[in-house]
Amino acid sequence: MDKFLITGGRPLEGRVVISGAKNAALPALTAALLTDQRVVLHNIPRVRDISTLRSLLEDLGVDAAVTHEAHGNRIEIEARRLLNPVAPYELVKQMRASVLVLGPLVARFGQARVSLPGGCAIGVRPINLHLKGLEKLGASISFDHGYVNARANGLRGTNFHFDTISVTGTENLMMAATLADGVTVLENAAREPEVQDLADLLNKMGAIIEGAGTPEIRIRGVSRLHGAEHTIIPDRIEAGTFLTAAAITGGELVVERCNAEHLTAVLAKLDSVGVQVVRDADKGPNGGHTLIVKARSKLSAHDVTTQEYPGFPTDMQAQYMTLMTQAEGSCVITETIFENRFMHALELARMGADITVNGRRAVVRGKTSLSGAKIQASDLRASASLVLGGLAAEGETLIDRVYHIDRGYERIEEKLTQVGAKIARISESD
Ligand code: EPZ
Repeated sequence: MDKFLITGGRPLEGRVVISGAKNAALPALTAALLTDQRVVLHNIPRVRDISTLRSLLEDLGVDAAVTHEAHGNRIEIEARRLLNPVAPYELVKQMRASVLVLGPLVARFGQARVSLPGGCAIGVRPINLHLKGLEKLGASISFDHGYVNARANGLRGTNFHFDTISVTGTENLMMAATLADGVTVLENAAREPEVQDLADLLNKMGAIIEGAGTPEIRIRGVSRLHGAEHTIIPDRIEAGTFLTAAAITGGELVVERCNAEHLTAVLAKLDSVGVQVVRDADKGPNGGHTLIVKARSKLSAHDVTTQEYPGFPTDMQAQYMTLMTQAEGSCVITETIFENRFMHALELARMGADITVNGRRAVVRGKTSLSGAKIQASDLRASASLVLGGLAAEGETLIDRVYHIDRGYERIEEKLTQVGAKIARISESD
């Protein structure tokens, strides 16, 4: 149970390089199950969720060799054969995105047995739409002992409408449909950049996908897919987190190797609260876009409502709440995607923030001075928001259960230290 010890009150200054996107790398790794040929992925972030998925692939009998590269890891996957099409409870309970093996396994091997992901700190998060879509594609679905079984003697193209927009639901069905007989149309599909990145990889593997990034995705099934090489997009949530870290500490950061086009809603919101972010015309030394954030002026409170892409991302809601504790005035934060994603509010209140939560709405009154305290992380993005709180607080903050943050942020304490933060990881063995 590692902890972070943060001494706050220091403006961040310097350059930070953004890693590859966890939520693009995860489906890309499972997409490799759709072919017996080699798939090579670059810019894979060194985060714990990737290691968990690698363990799952190895459990399935698939080689996933890792090589260190200048930026992230390179992973080479060859799903020549499969030992058993089972995603066990022990791995799925660590990471619900393991459900992304379901579509590829049933599409290529005709069967899959996946532990049902239980509840999650941020919401119930059912997978009924994944299963309904697979049934529409011709799979038979059954349940036993906490597992879902999907079986099919070849999938058939179909039209499927998502009652609720689902990111991994769209990804799972898009992958399955690549090997189905005929054309599949996914309506009210997710438009996230991670969905588009997956479609780009699948098309490199020989799939025929049109419309990724729009609400309607058309997939013309093919009999088989081949190998490919692909570089994962930058992590827009990590980039948004560092931009907010600069804003809350009154600092100045150069955020490199990100994609500004994926951050439109976040940049617009930061601009409205008084945080100046400019895009550097030059291509940074590390490729991608470079954003320069200067946050010297007063912050003003502004309401926000989370939405599916291209709206304001729910994965930035917690970080934005912490920023609003340091803004003049009050604002309302409305969480429309998950029903229980304000766990961080209570911990921030323990640091002195003035926040009232009522169901899916929270009212933040600022500016309040935060004081360091012993606090506890409850999920990935909540832990990021608490780190931001610690950076802005007076005195020392001790954050427990930072294993949550390691799931999706690569060496965050090292990246923060490089730009002037005073943050240390304390391991139980220390
Ligand atoms: C993805 O989760 C991301 N995870 C999440 O990021 C992100 O918060 C979420 O999309 C929303 O943007 C990955 O990509 C691995 P959904 P996902 O299916 O796909 C309901 C992070 O911090 N729903 O789009 O699981 C669901 O309950 C993580 O990196 C159903 O009702 O989310 C939710 O209310 C956290 N039935 C809504 O849809 C279904 O079958 C959106 O969920 C599927 C979803």
